[in-house]
Amino acid sequence: DWTTGNVIDEQVAAIREQVGDKRAICGLSGGVDSAVAAALVARAIGDQLTCVYVDHGLMRKGETEQVEKDFVAATGVKLVVVDAEERFLAALKGVSDPEEKRKIIGREFIRVFEQAQAEIIADQGPAVEFLVQGTLYPDVVESGGGTGTANIKSHHNVGGLPEDLEFQLIEPLRKLFKDEVRMVGQELGLPEEIVQRQPFPGPGLGIRIVGEVTKERLDLLRDADAIAREELTAAGLDRDIWQCPVVLLADVRSVGVQGDGRTYGHPIVLRPVSSEDAMTADWSRLPYDVLARISTRITNEVRDVNRVVLDVTSKPPGTIEWE
Ligand code: XMP
Repeated sequence: DWTTGNVIDEQVAAIREQVGDKRAICGLSGGVDSAVAAALVARAIGDQLTCVYVDHGLMRKGETEQVEKDFVAATGVKLVVVDAEERFLAALKGVSDPEEKRKIIGREFIRVFEQAQAEIIADQGPAVEFLVQGTLYPDVVESGGGTGTANIKSHHNVGGLPEDLEFQLIEPLRKLFKDEVRMVGQELGLPEEIVQRQPFPGPGLGIRIVGEVTKERLDLLRDADAIAREELTAAGLDRDIWQCPVVLLADVRSVGVQGDGRTYGHPIVLRPVSSEDAMTADWSRLPYDVLARISTRITNEVRDVNRVVLDVTSKPPGTIEWE
């Protein structure tokens, strides 16, 4: 009988058996999969698990706090948060090329994660022999179905882990689909905001700023994104759309008029899409009044933004993200 309760009981027993009196670590990305995997393992082995969250400064408004406070409150997990915002901003300084940005973010992520990992390993506890991964069934199928230690796709949530892993993997979600993972997360008592979270790319807002990534631009984009999310949620549309990237065209300016003055500001792009699996997507036909509210609020409340535009491109030919 498939019930979330059975899945949890089975996995908890298996993980206890596998880990014994050793320790495990788990990288949290803020996404559903790593959160549910970590919560399951925490249920099984308690403080033999240490979670690591790298704050790269590229998260949306409130997301880091959700991990730091709500996730910890719900699971009691031992969490190490590494504040690496300055390091990431320094590494991204002067870079506008999308692939370059992705490489830099991936590289810095691995370095910071490895350093945190080394510190955990160096403390006095039992040997750290296990690494928890939020691999889902579709990921297993996609990567050829192997088990064991190798073959972690660099694209996925934790942003690309080193290949020379000396860890054994714990992958408690290997047999589950996304909707089942959400149910398990709910049963484990995780906050709704985490369990129902829509996909968000590992490189975060770094690939939603067309142009150089700076702290000021990130703050601006965070404000615009928070407004869009708030209004979509208020309109009850979260389940209807797959995700809605909000993009800042930092290298583009257009003329506007606000109050009694001319403005010369940046456009914000709304990219709401519907999709089954992100391989293909269609632009979501959002109600005009919702779009109007988002547009009015963003141009009124976010400094330096004087225009909101809607992306009406399907995938293909457009990708979901702009970079
Ligand atoms: P694209 O832009 O390729 O995006 O149509 C497809 C889906 O993947 C997400 N995405 C990422 N997820 N790391 C991730 O974990 C990444 O580097 C990354 N890039 C894109 C995107 O948000 C969409 O859901």
